[in-house]
Amino acid sequence: MPLDLETREQLLDTVRRFVRESCVPIEAKVAEEDRVPDSVIQQMRELGLFGLSIPVEYGGLGLTMEEEVLVAMELGHTSPAFRSVIGTNVGIGSQGVVMFGNEQQKAEWLPKLASGEVVASFALTEPGAGSDAASVRVTAIPDGDHYVVNGTKRFITNANRAGMFTLMARSNPERKGAGGISAFIVPSNLPGISVGKPEKKMGQQGAHICDINFDNVRVPASLRLGKEGEGFKVAMQVLDRGRLHISGVCVGVAERLIEESVNYAREREQFGQKIAEFQLIQGMLADCKTEAYAARCMVMDAARKRDSGQSITMEAACTKYFASEMVGRVADKAVQIFGGAGYVADYGIERFYRDVRIFRLYEGTSQIQQIVIARNLLRGD
Ligand code: CAA
Repeated sequence: MPLDLETREQLLDTVRRFVRESCVPIEAKVAEEDRVPDSVIQQMRELGLFGLSIPVEYGGLGLTMEEEVLVAMELGHTSPAFRSVIGTNVGIGSQGVVMFGNEQQKAEWLPKLASGEVVASFALTEPGAGSDAASVRVTAIPDGDHYVVNGTKRFITNANRAGMFTLMARSNPERKGAGGISAFIVPSNLPGISVGKPEKKMGQQGAHICDINFDNVRVPASLRLGKEGEGFKVAMQVLDRGRLHISGVCVGVAERLIEESVNYAREREQFGQKIAEFQLIQGMLADCKTEAYAARCMVMDAARKRDSGQSITMEAACTKYFASEMVGRVADKAVQIFGGAGYVADYGIERFYRDVRIFRLYEGTSQIQQIVIARNLLRGD
């Protein structure tokens, strides 16, 4: 059920205030220390941010996709590392359980994910299976009423804090490609699981990605999500949804950078006048605004389509493709408008420039989105 408009505005206003008051002032510190403070994570729990997308009957806020992307846009107004703290519980970590879990699995896991007591990670990517997700090599071999899991997952967001993984593994090694893959809920404390050190990254310090190693890990068969061989479909449907959420974040970051650029252009003087008076600066601002607005419209349209029950595989790909490329162009122009200051750490613009680069890579590269769009077009969907 959608929220009534007044409640929706109240929620967005609360998130807006949280972002402005608790996140923006510590952006540089979080990047420097590569850590979001526990006090801020606790605030996120209290605001219900971990459970944005989890149905109300399991303790979440049960937002519609449209409401969720509006919140994602608000969260985009600060360093994306903050959003990443809740991102996997809201999106790719939890949605396999929401969409494919049975009643027992939902009752066991969703309340803990909604409250933020347990962090969820999405374990699909491997050293040899990135864009080619169907070539997953981690195995989950049936053994009585268990599956025995072996192999390595790579670049898994929040793996170092996770209490559970949504794991995609090959349950039928005889079957190559998508059909041999099943999805599982895997508690992170099972014997044989070890999580690597967080990778050093180009941006989004404070958000962590790690390897997960599985060494003869016995996962109860009752934790399989959906049918055997259905794991690739689980992953793809989770990603369709995740791509809309990420697009919302891209819009939010772009709007923040536009705001910063406008403020700077109004203050900064060169050649005896504010640089905002130069038409070449105005042109850059106008391009940024136009693109951010276009992406906002796309995100809202795709989210509403999903809420009305339509398949949005193509729309999610179009939106992720455009919004992630758009925020890259906006960040580049923001650096240009700030000039030398845009390149200096103190102003924070260069940090956003680095932070947004990942949006064109994770949850499907731009090239993967192009493939998905073209395939859908050519199939006539
Ligand atoms: N919904 C439902 N089913 C889908 C689907 C979708 N969106 N997309 C594909 N499928 C189904 C197909 O219908 C097909 O089913 P059948 O065999 O029954 O016909 C099956 O899945 C295989 O589909 P394809 O033949 O299209 O598979 P493919 O191997 O050609 O791959 C792909 C398709 C789109 C390239 C896919 O591999 C893909 O999306 N790759 C990118 C992976 C990705 O986004 N990784 C990001 C990891 S998560 C992350 O980044 C976050 C983090 O934590 C860092």
